[in-house]
Amino acid sequence: MNIKYYFIPLFILFFYLLACKKATVSNPTITPYSPSISFQHPTGFPDPVYTFDSNEVTNIRFRLGKFLFFDPILSSDSTVSCAACHAQSHGFADHNIPFSKGVGGQFGNRNAPPIFNAAWMPEFFWDGRVHRLDDFSMGPITNPIEMNETSVHVIKKLNRNTYYRKHFKLAYGVDSITELSLRRALSQYMSMLISSNSKYDQYLAGKINLSTSELNGLSIFTSNCATCHKPPLFTDFSFRNNGLDTVFLDQGRAAYTKNNSDIGKFKVPTLRNIELTYPYMHDGRYIGLMDVINHYSTGIHPSATLDKSIATNLKLSTTDKKDLLKFLFTLTDYTLISDTLVAEPKR
Ligand code: HEC
Ligand code: HEC
Repeated sequence: MNIKYYFIPLFILFFYLLACKKATVSNPTITPYSPSISFQHPTGFPDPVYTFDSNEVTNIRFRLGKFLFFDPILSSDSTVSCAACHAQSHGFADHNIPFSKGVGGQFGNRNAPPIFNAAWMPEFFWDGRVHRLDDFSMGPITNPIEMNETSVHVIKKLNRNTYYRKHFKLAYGVDSITELSLRRALSQYMSMLISSNSKYDQYLAGKINLSTSELNGLSIFTSNCATCHKPPLFTDFSFRNNGLDTVFLDQGRAAYTKNNSDIGKFKVPTLRNIELTYPYMHDGRYIGLMDVINHYSTGIHPSATLDKSIATNLKLSTTDKKDLLKFLFTLTDYTLISDTLVAEPKR
């Protein structure tokens, strides 16, 4: 027999093995709980407050939360999504307007804060009236001047939608979408919005140097601002009166606690990405960061609840003001605003 015929069974065996291998590759086991994404805990950050109880991070839950966050279906006339007021390009605050526009073009009376690093927030809103991320999302959905929906109606709308029915089933195992699963999906997306890669973070990690001006700004910041705007999150999450007014139109935390000692106190906001989130303060009264620096330098208004640590104006020199501004610019995180993982999904 010709020698080449000995190879025939070998060839058959080879192609058989190849076919078997191909078959397993083209038919992967479809696991809705893919482990490919997970919560990343940045070095130096404290433990997150959000515990992911019954909401451990999975691909499908995160994607579902992201779809919901960008979908105006959550508002009564399907015109306003969460992202309409919390835009990635603006560090997940609103589009540089003092007050946000909700359903029917209505304006609210507080400036939309940025929502990255939400997993570390112990309390929510300028007055701290919500205490858990999972309890948060029905607030904006049912607020008449924001999304103006009702819990019952939004759940009905989602249940009529085959995409959402299928994905809630895959993500949370529910045959019929519930309010709890909606809140959890939105929490999952928000908890994954992490800002920890600013120029300042890279400096801390020893990857880059800061300029002499930026370093002087950092030292002014450390002496005068860091007790309240405490690194690494640039807030200690307390409620304080930073001297904006003597008489407060918006009572701040007192509107929630009904306690006179809370009048004019607002949640200390993070200063990460502050360059992107103007205008500033709970009512967006300051357009530029230099206006804010001038406030702390010469504009503190006395009142009964004014925080003792800023009872006197700082009276910073022109150079110190400029350097402080340069330091604040080092807190911008270009990774966050260009990260496709958290960006608006393609439909
Ligand atoms: C019409 C604009 C608007 C829409 C729509 C909106 N928000 Fe907000 N958001 C705001 C404003 C304004 C505040 C601050 C209100 C306050 O403190 O009283 C806020 C506060 C928040 C906070 C608290 C942040 C902090 O530092 O305490 C979170 C979280 C948040 N929104 C998430 C969402 C989610 C999720 C949705 C969609 C379900 C949503 N928002 C829809 C304007 C909006
Ligand atoms: C006593 C605590 C305290 C100190 C000290 C303090 N701040 Fe603030 N800061 C606050 C509070 C509270 C607010 C929010 C006030 C409001 O909106 O009513 C705020 C708001 C801001 C804002 C606006 C943030 C936003 O998202 O709107 C900036 C910027 C800022 N502070 C920078 C600084 C700088 C720079 C210093 C140091 C010169 C400083 N702060 C010192 C408590 C403090």
